[in-house]
Amino acid sequence: MTDAELMAAAAAAREKSYSPYSHFRVGAALLTKQGKLYTGCNIENAAYSATVCAERTAFFKAVSEGEREFSALAIVGGKEGETAPFCAPCGVCRQVMTEFCSRDFKVLLGDPTHFEAYTLDMLLPFSFTDKDLS
Ligand code: THU
Repeated sequence: MTDAELMAAAAAAREKSYSPYSHFRVGAALLTKQGKLYTGCNIENAAYSATVCAERTAFFKAVSEGEREFSALAIVGGKEGETAPFCAPCGVCRQVMTEFCSRDFKVLLGDPTHFEAYTLDMLLPFSFTDKDLS
């Protein structure tokens, strides 16, 4: 799957966003090293803290299906009715990526036509990992 196809999958996943409170809609597309695709959207809740981001929806779907090795993640977001030129993942999602992905894990950010690749290390340097617990 190409980077552009992964971004298109994130944009399609965004259509499923359940965001009646923020009206900010996000989609994510996660590619496994085996080439399998898992998508996610943000799912909000009247008790706001129960909201889950699109990225974590995709990761938790994949991990709960037994996946452990990932090669790339694409994120597309923005206010209802528009696509932001850039939607950065929140800190909690960066930490979840850190749990399952290597430092060179590729994160595609932008809109489906103009996007850039970043590494997880760029997005969350000096991260806390399992090594800190040993
Ligand atoms: N959100 C995501 O789904 N991913 C991000 O990377 C940033 C924020 C969601 C959470 C909430 O539903 C809405 O966007 C506004 O914060």
